[in-house]
Amino acid sequence: MIAIASDHGGYALKQTILEHLAGRGIPAEDLGCGGERVDYPAYAEKLCRAVAAGQYERGILCCGTGIGMSIAANKIPGIRAALCGDCYSAGMSRQHNDANVLCLGGRVLGTELAKKIVDTYLDTGFSNGESHSRRIAMIKDLEG
Ligand code: RB5
Repeated sequence: MIAIASDHGGYALKQTILEHLAGRGIPAEDLGCGGERVDYPAYAEKLCRAVAAGQYERGILCCGTGIGMSIAANKIPGIRAALCGDCYSAGMSRQHNDANVLCLGGRVLGTELAKKIVDTYLDTGFSNGESHSRRIAMIKDLEG
């Protein structure tokens, strides 16, 4: 199960992605907001704590630029959040970084590109390469 959340700046994109995921038959749970003005760190925390706890396989966060969500998300232990504006980065975030959260900018991305980024992110697996696993363990150590 995928979790998805946004602030008001990412709300329209979140709705587009929810519709897209439904069309692909991918179950997703919307953790808010409902379009009202909210503070993005609260939604980043809500989604990321749930992903880190194993309640969801992966998460998608949308705000205006994706920047605020990604900064907040990467403060949560166990979260590797990737802000992606292209499909190559989305694929590499999975292959090399095993990113468990994708961040997107609703005021930056066109809807068709955003959908392709989401598809690439969801359809790509971690490489399991020794060097990549070692680096991810090093990132984990940075959490203290
Ligand atoms: C909200 O206006 C905006 O600051 C937010 O959506 C996001 O872009 C922050 O990084």
